[in-house]
Amino acid sequence: MRCRWLVVLVPSVILGQGCHVALTRDLPPSGTQAVYLSWQRDPTTTMTVHWLTRPEHGSDALTWTPRGEESWQRALGAHRPVPHSDHLLHTVELTELTPGGDYRFRIAGDRRDYAFRTMPADAGEPITFVVGGDLYREGFDQRMYVQAARRDPMFALIGGDIVYDNGEPARVSRWFHWLNAWEEFMVTSDGRLIPMIVTIGNHEVRGEYDRTPAEAPFFYSLFAWPGEQGCGVLDFGGYMSIVALDSGHTHPIGGAQTEWLQRTLADRSDVEHVFAVYHVPAYPSVRAFDGGKSPLIRQHWVPLFDRWSVDVVYENHDHAYKRTPLIRGGQVDRGGILYLGDGAWGVAPRNVHDPRTTWYLERAESVKHVIVTTIHGRTRRHEAVNELGEVFDSYPETRGGTVERAKRVRPWAGVAPRATKLRSVDRATQTQSAIRRTPVTTAPGRPSSSTARNPAGP
Ligand SMILES: [Fe+2]
Ligand SMILES: [Fe+2]
Repeated sequence: MRCRWLVVLVPSVILGQGCHVALTRDLPPSGTQAVYLSWQRDPTTTMTVHWLTRPEHGSDALTWTPRGEESWQRALGAHRPVPHSDHLLHTVELTELTPGGDYRFRIAGDRRDYAFRTMPADAGEPITFVVGGDLYREGFDQRMYVQAARRDPMFALIGGDIVYDNGEPARVSRWFHWLNAWEEFMVTSDGRLIPMIVTIGNHEVRGEYDRTPAEAPFFYSLFAWPGEQGCGVLDFGGYMSIVALDSGHTHPIGGAQTEWLQRTLADRSDVEHVFAVYHVPAYPSVRAFDGGKSPLIRQHWVPLFDRWSVDVVYENHDHAYKRTPLIRGGQVDRGGILYLGDGAWGVAPRNVHDPRTTWYLERAESVKHVIVTTIHGRTRRHEAVNELGEVFDSYPETRGGTVERAKRVRPWAGVAPRATKLRSVDRATQTQSAIRRTPVTTAPGRPSSSTARNPAGP
């Protein structure tokens, strides 16, 4: 791996974790830095390229070519200032690309080559992506990024609390450092930059909850998607949709956002793989079941996930790992929804509730992780990977077929539960049905790591 970084080691004893580094090097004085990818529209045929410069190096142009060819074409984008800084953010969207195509590009005035791959046209071959939230707080632990990149994912889905800027002007440099680190570490084995799809968390916002987009100046400036709405949907051809939501930070959970969610899910009732992602968990692994925004999410969004049979919901914010049993109607149900979380890509993990006494937890651990999801045809599989690259939990999802298709076009009430091959789900149904709805009022969890700690704040 290239190493253009000067880093300052922080004694691990202070942080309670190994390999933490502070991203404190001086940024390049000029030219292009922090080249990163995201999407605004169908990822099978488009790619959005972002990069940062100082104003005196502010070209909005890049050239690109299919990999293996030399048919370079020029594309011109636009730029805007990054708030509270002397940097510009440049954005170019490439369109009408070939699905599953490999491309190279160069930023104007920069001699480096970068590479990306568009999403395939369908899921006929396995497609892998990584998911996580709560990344850069105490320090930068490169191990999790390295492990995520080693999976050669097509993209990373990020569930908020990215650099903990809290909307404070003085923290803008955290973004620059982190985006440069992303470019450095989030590269596949064949040299592709890994695009990111981002969701807002409380630590992107000055005041954290019940605020406006103006109080999340960096989040809304640095990413083309989900743009000004805070919530958005990205459709991958016709086989996958990712719905990103704002869990009450700059948009209310109920009202317009819930109405939008209803329409969005209804319009995608025939999409094979529908994922939702947001920050505050409906089913918290660390915090109180009835605390914060969790009850509002269960009131407004969870019934829509049930009605439209969202396949997997990714949650974050609690700084631990969790996997729920399948849940529908507020109880364990073999035909229900899988919730995965809870946001510990790079932050110190916290103590978790005990799954033996918490009806909605099938698995919970105080451990840093990313979730590796692979879709293939109609199947989904999830693995939780720790910072050493070990798979410490997996969920061999085999959902699909006529039962799922039936309930997609018809509310759950008239559909028989599908047969399951998942022993873990059977066990969950048997052992946890007796204790379902057990209220969780504190964090009675059992620390499984000497570094675990209780939440000290949001
Ligand atoms: Fe967090
Ligand atoms: Fe959070």
